[in-house]
Amino acid sequence: MASLHESRFGFVHHCLILVLLSAFYFSCSSSVYVSDPPLSLDYYKKTCPTVLEIVRREMECAVLSDPRNAALILRLHFHDCFVQGCDGSVLLDDTITLQGEKKAPNNKDALKGFRILDRIKNLLESECPGIVSCADILTVAARDAVLLVGGPYWDVPLGRKDSRTVGYELSNTNLPTANDGLLSIISKFIYQGLSVTDMVALSGAHTIGMARCVNFRDRIYGDFPVTTAVDPLSMNYLKTLKSQCPPVGEDNKEAAMDYLTPNLFDNSFYHILLRGEGLINSDQELYTSAFALQTRKLVKKYAEDQVAFFEQFAESMVKLGNITEPDTFVDGEVRRNCRFVNT
Ligand code: HEM
Ligand SMILES: *[C@@H]1O[C@H](CO)[C@@H](O)[C@H](O)[C@H]1NC(C)=O
Repeated sequence: MASLHESRFGFVHHCLILVLLSAFYFSCSSSVYVSDPPLSLDYYKKTCPTVLEIVRREMECAVLSDPRNAALILRLHFHDCFVQGCDGSVLLDDTITLQGEKKAPNNKDALKGFRILDRIKNLLESECPGIVSCADILTVAARDAVLLVGGPYWDVPLGRKDSRTVGYELSNTNLPTANDGLLSIISKFIYQGLSVTDMVALSGAHTIGMARCVNFRDRIYGDFPVTTAVDPLSMNYLKTLKSQCPPVGEDNKEAAMDYLTPNLFDNSFYHILLRGEGLINSDQELYTSAFALQTRKLVKKYAEDQVAFFEQFAESMVKLGNITEPDTFVDGEVRRNCRFVNT
């Protein structure tokens, strides 16, 4: 009986959705429902012609004062885009009625750099009030961050809107974690419309920035069947890491993911994987996993050819920045303060 009820309900439900969908289909202008996001390079050309200069200038100051800031902004952009699209949702603070993404387990204690965006937003609000979305600011800032620490340049399509909603639950399901296996990581990228190639190239972002002890403890204490290279250098590296990250405690103690050139955007991240010395397990899996046939080839390629890595990274960053939910363009806004939805 119960199943009959369910299926009947399901049927009614489906019909309703069909009716609603077709109503939408015929009443809305097609531009709202295009599959590609309506982004363009000259989106602010008339309304805020100095936007790129202002973001660049502020990012220069931020990265000059501490190169780590480049990593913070790049990661923020990634975590924004993987949760309901690049819509600035990650920037929203908690309020009485809204549980923001910042305190979701995958983000808690791990996201920083918000004040850099506040500063850029303030400047843009006095230059061209109400025009430039926080999602766009973050996308341009991430590009500049990469460029300023030696990475490639790419043009950033613009015109994103800021969400009025957050994806606390999605932060838990969509974001990859250090303990994810290779197949899980791949599926999280495919889900976003990104390929295995995009995933391997974008992982090269770990050529800058730090990871916390809590994210590499299992790796260094051998709780994974991942081979750590046996040459003496690597034993020393392991010793250093263990002294920084004890079996218990010091969860937030940080180590560079690319110990060769931690503040330089280059391809040494891939060299480290070839040596079996990736700091977080999910990175080493790209090379070492039993399922790593395709990814291992790409790791080797990017290790050998920095230009190939830069070209693919730039292209994949545009794809990452293109992730959007059509809803955002209808219901979204340009926030006045990146931390709060407009009232
Ligand atoms: C492929 C799957 C990925 C996994 C499993 C992963 C995981 C992680 C983890 C565990 C950390 C350390 C965070 C902490 O301990 O606080 C980290 C840091 C970082 N991630 Fe990823 N990440 C991935 C992909 C990406 C992508 C695609 C980007 C950007 C394009 C990115 C950019 C960064 C940056 C820049 C940092 C350093 C942040 C800092 O210095 O605080 N990651 N990532
Ligand atoms: C990203 O979106 C823009 C504008 O919608 C489009 O022109 C471009 O081809 C897309 N790029 C990629 C790599 O998907």
